[in-house]
Amino acid sequence: MEPLKGLILSGGRGTRLRPITHTSAKQLVPVANKPVLFYGIEAMAAAGIEQVGVVIAPETGAEIEAAAGDGSRFGVNITYVLQDEPLGLAHAVLTAEAFLGSSPFVMYLGDNLLQGGISDLVATFREHEPDALILLTPVPDPEHYGVAELADSGQGQAGRVVRLLEKPSAPVTDLALVGVYMFTAQIHAAARAISPSGRGELEITDAIQHLVDEGRRIEPHIVRGWWKDTGRLSDLLEANRLILDNLIGRIEGELIDSRADGRVVIEAGARLERTTVRGPAIVGAGAQLSDCYIGPYTAIGEQCTISGAEVEHSILLAGCSVRDLDGRMESSLLGRDVSVRRGDRQPRAYRFMVGDNSDISIL
Ligand code: G1P
Repeated sequence: MEPLKGLILSGGRGTRLRPITHTSAKQLVPVANKPVLFYGIEAMAAAGIEQVGVVIAPETGAEIEAAAGDGSRFGVNITYVLQDEPLGLAHAVLTAEAFLGSSPFVMYLGDNLLQGGISDLVATFREHEPDALILLTPVPDPEHYGVAELADSGQGQAGRVVRLLEKPSAPVTDLALVGVYMFTAQIHAAARAISPSGRGELEITDAIQHLVDEGRRIEPHIVRGWWKDTGRLSDLLEANRLILDNLIGRIEGELIDSRADGRVVIEAGARLERTTVRGPAIVGAGAQLSDCYIGPYTAIGEQCTISGAEVEHSILLAGCSVRDLDGRMESSLLGRDVSVRRGDRQPRAYRFMVGDNSDISIL
C-alpha cells in the first residue's frame, strides 16, 4: 500500500458554538488549553502520517493557517486546501483531490476527538486492506449523525455494513459514524457519483453507501474508547473533562499562599495568590489569580485575570477577566478577552454588553 496521507476538515460554520464562532474557527476552541484541531494533527503524526492536507474555509482559513503553520512543530507537512463553500464532507474530499492523488488516506473531522488516537486503526487498515474503514460508536441520539446498519457476524464482532444513512429521522440502530474515516482512492469516484442531500451537501455517508452498493468491502470498527464531536457547548465541556481526566500535574508558575490539590497544571508565568485550585484543572501561562477557587474540570487560558471569584467546570479562552462574583461560575465557555465582573454601583442590576447569539443564564 502507498503511504497514507491525512485529510483534516477544518471548515464549516460552527453555528452551534456561536457566538464564539462569529470571530473564531470552531476547530481552534481549546480543550484543556489546546485547540481541538491540534489533537487530530498529533494523532496523524503519531500514526506515522507525514503529508497532511487541511481543508479550510474562506472565513476562518487564515486563522487556522496561522495557528497550525507548516506542521513542522507536529512533525508533519501541512498543505492547505481551500473549500470555497461548505458543500459537504464528500465535496471537501473532491476539493482535495489534487493533494490526495491516488493515495489511501485518513479523513479526520477537525472538531472531533478520539481517545487513543488512530495508530491501531491505521495498522488494521494496512493489514486488512479493505476499500474503506469506518468507525462506529453507540450514541443516545443517533438521529443527529450518520447511522450504520450492520449484518450480524454472529461472532460478537462488527458484521458487514448493510446500509448507511445520514441523520435518519427514525434510525434503526444507535451506531453513529464517528468523524474519522479511512479511504482508498475509490472514494473520489463515489463522491462524484452522488447527489446533494436534503441539506444541500454532498454527504460522505452517501459516498460510502455508494461503495457498499458497488459491492466494495467496507470494514466497520466499533470504537472502544470515548469519542467526542465538540460542535456543541455540552460536548465541548465533556471533551474538556475527558482530556483533563488524564492530565499529569505540573507546577511551573508561582503559588503564594495558594494550594493546588490533585492533578493541576500551572503554566510558567502564572501567578496565584490566596487561591485554591482543585484538579483536574489547568491554568495557562501568565494568568493572574487572586482570592479565587478554581474547581475541577476547568481550563483557564493564557493571560486570564481572575480575582475574588469561583470558577468550576468551565473553559476560559485567553485574556479573560473575571472579578468579584457572588456566585460560582460553572459550565461556562468564555471567548477571548471576555470580561465578567460585579459592579459596585447601586441599584444592583445586571448590565451586559454581549455579542450576537450569546447565551447567559442567571440561576
Ligand atoms: C458529520 C457527518 C456524520 C457524522 C458526524 C460525526 O455530521 O455527516 O455522518 O456522524 O459528522 O461528527 P455533521 O457534523 O456535518 O453534522
